[in-house]
Amino acid sequence: MNCTAQLAGKKFNHVIMNASGAHCMTAEQLYEIYHADTAAIVTKSCTLQPRQGNPEPRYTEIPLGSLNSMGLPNLGLHFYQNFVQEAQQDKPIFISLAGLSLEENLEMLQQLNQHSTTAIIELNLSCPNLPGKPQTGYDFQRTQQVLEQVFSFNKLPLGVKLPPYFDIIHFEQMAAILNQYPLQFVTCINSIGNALHIDPATDTTVIRPKNGFGGLGGQYIKPTALANVHQFYRLLNPSIQVIGCGGATTGLDIYQHLLCGASLVQIGTQLMIEGPGVFTRLLQELQEVMQEKGYTSIDQFRGKLKYWEQQNPTT
Ligand code: SIN
Repeated sequence: MNCTAQLAGKKFNHVIMNASGAHCMTAEQLYEIYHADTAAIVTKSCTLQPRQGNPEPRYTEIPLGSLNSMGLPNLGLHFYQNFVQEAQQDKPIFISLAGLSLEENLEMLQQLNQHSTTAIIELNLSCPNLPGKPQTGYDFQRTQQVLEQVFSFNKLPLGVKLPPYFDIIHFEQMAAILNQYPLQFVTCINSIGNALHIDPATDTTVIRPKNGFGGLGGQYIKPTALANVHQFYRLLNPSIQVIGCGGATTGLDIYQHLLCGASLVQIGTQLMIEGPGVFTRLLQELQEVMQEKGYTSIDQFRGKLKYWEQQNPTT
């Protein structure tokens, strides 16, 4: 069974990796997932300097997923840069950047370019948890400015992590912007921002920051994630690949992300719930689904979502 993939000029032994934010902030967590059955790993979104993030409790499981308002706690760019240098690199490593300003993102990127890091860059344009800071990906003009500046000097393989979009015109407008730049990939989607969960026993919010508002992850968001993956797969230049992220808890979910056009699939909430063993289970389940459907390689079905009319030609 061939589950290999290629992205940003690198080879991936299969298609499943962590999502930024899940089990990837400290060296211990990073090495644990690096040595697990991942195809690649991505670090916690970082800033130039280390950050404490929002007050706790700031992450919780809820019935069909998770709610978080972490506020970018991280150990700072140098820590993740050093991790990339120290790891043996028998699998690709992505560094996720989430500067608090355009200038900070450019400074981090400049440093990574100067040091010719071997990492792939995932530029996070979609953190919903910073009080007073809008998600860049919802400001189309700002996104264009960011990409213009980034690609005025960047030579590293780079993609962007997008927030979920919900309107067809927004997919089209964002794709038209992204298509102007030599992006290697987009990651769809970050959590659905600013959701609210209430503890029914106490009528109370369940996380502390932002009056309980936080990014929604897990099974709640799979249909939105699949829609975003498929829309961007259709609308982007073929040179810009899509990484699926959102709601995958089984091998069938991974299969459906691939069917919608994803080249790789990231696991967030389910990794938090199950730990690094999740990758072995998901890969095995994906292979079982492929076998049941008679596929021996991902290229045979990736992006080949069938529309209703194709299955019902006479109606
Ligand atoms: C956070 O640290 O608040 C999560 C980051 C993100 O959702 O991009």
